[in-house]
Amino acid sequence: MERMNIAILGCGTVGGGVARIILDMNNELNNRANATIQLKKIVELSPKTAAKRFDIPMEYFCGNGNDLSKNEASAYITKLIADPDIDLIVETIGGKGDFVHQTCIDIVKAGKHLVTANKALLAERGSDIFNMADKKEVKIGFEAAVCGAIPIIKTIKENLTGDKILSISGIMNGTSNYILSQMQNENLEFDTALKLAQESGYAEADPTLDINGGDAGHKLILLIKLAYGIDVSMDDLSMIGIQDIKKEDIEFAKEIDAKIKLICYAKKVNGDIYATVRPMMVKNSNFLSNVNGATNAVRLNNKYSGIHILVGKGAGSSETAMSIVSDIVFIARYGKKISNTAQKQERNFADARQFVFPYIITFHTADMPGTTGFITTAIGKQNINIDTVSHNRHNDDKALFSVATMPSTLEKIESAIEEIKRERPGMLLSEPKIMPILY
Ligand code: HSE
Repeated sequence: MERMNIAILGCGTVGGGVARIILDMNNELNNRANATIQLKKIVELSPKTAAKRFDIPMEYFCGNGNDLSKNEASAYITKLIADPDIDLIVETIGGKGDFVHQTCIDIVKAGKHLVTANKALLAERGSDIFNMADKKEVKIGFEAAVCGAIPIIKTIKENLTGDKILSISGIMNGTSNYILSQMQNENLEFDTALKLAQESGYAEADPTLDINGGDAGHKLILLIKLAYGIDVSMDDLSMIGIQDIKKEDIEFAKEIDAKIKLICYAKKVNGDIYATVRPMMVKNSNFLSNVNGATNAVRLNNKYSGIHILVGKGAGSSETAMSIVSDIVFIARYGKKISNTAQKQERNFADARQFVFPYIITFHTADMPGTTGFITTAIGKQNINIDTVSHNRHNDDKALFSVATMPSTLEKIESAIEEIKRERPGMLLSEPKIMPILY
């Protein structure tokens, strides 16, 4: 049987889970891999804490059991990367800084396979790591980087190779979905729901990337690379978070039988790829509208096999660790036959402003006769067909209403808003909020 000796860098929530699973079900893993998978060493700054938390014998940890300084940990990492006895390294340090970036390059450069959950690193600085891995003919497993336990990477990379993926839509960030679900179901404002998410252990102390769409964007970039063979940068991805969603937006969604979700969306139209991360009003008839709490879901619409929806845990220790362990088994079993990413394709990454969707626009205005008429006329002048205009909510001398359109480009809607601002300065009391409606 082939040998697959493992080292783990970082024994926190995910790395500790990986060690635990390997130790728990080693025989089954060996049978499934047709290889001898052995956990050899772990580098961790606080080995005693990790050993206790995950019930891992101390002999697996580098050092004498005492806490390591960063320099000491770094020296052990260098030693493991150079060690011919190690075949695969699990990187669960996290972050996209120079140290972890260089560590991953060094791992593959040394001819060792790399398995990681590090979406930010692979999405933003992954190219040279993938290039080096291809050059050295080693494999990178990153199933855990997108939606934790959901096997979306292998589904796209291995299971749908006989199909064309027409579109991807998904709820890929559990924290933001938890917040939106709380706002929807408990009638909370954003700040209260965020606080609740933090108290319940869903959101990080710094939840910026969860709520501004960054974390979801990293995941979408990785899926686009696999499904469509193009590299997209975070700067190019059109991304809006959930921080500006208000109770009133939830009310407008209810009025059109929809729920607000932070949606990762990518679609192929001829040779063009459109992609965006933003809050959308998802019609109740779409499965994604009923995915609540911290659950993740990805919906793939395919040319030949139709729609597939994968639903599951997008985070968590054993859940994310399971995906890493599955990658280890996959690499041990198929080794060189695995391709790291899709073949690069000549495709255009199109401007999200040309994306055709039905949209809903909410307007805060001065409460004056002619306002609704002027706004809807400006929209009509862009040749946008209006579906519904909500009733006006009146509040002293202010009004609030929404306009739902038939399919249009975002560019046309923005042109209508520009005209309103130009022709009627002061009519709009805040920037109108524009959300696609997802059927
Ligand atoms: N923080 C993420 C979430 C999980 O809330 O879904 C890791 O990407």
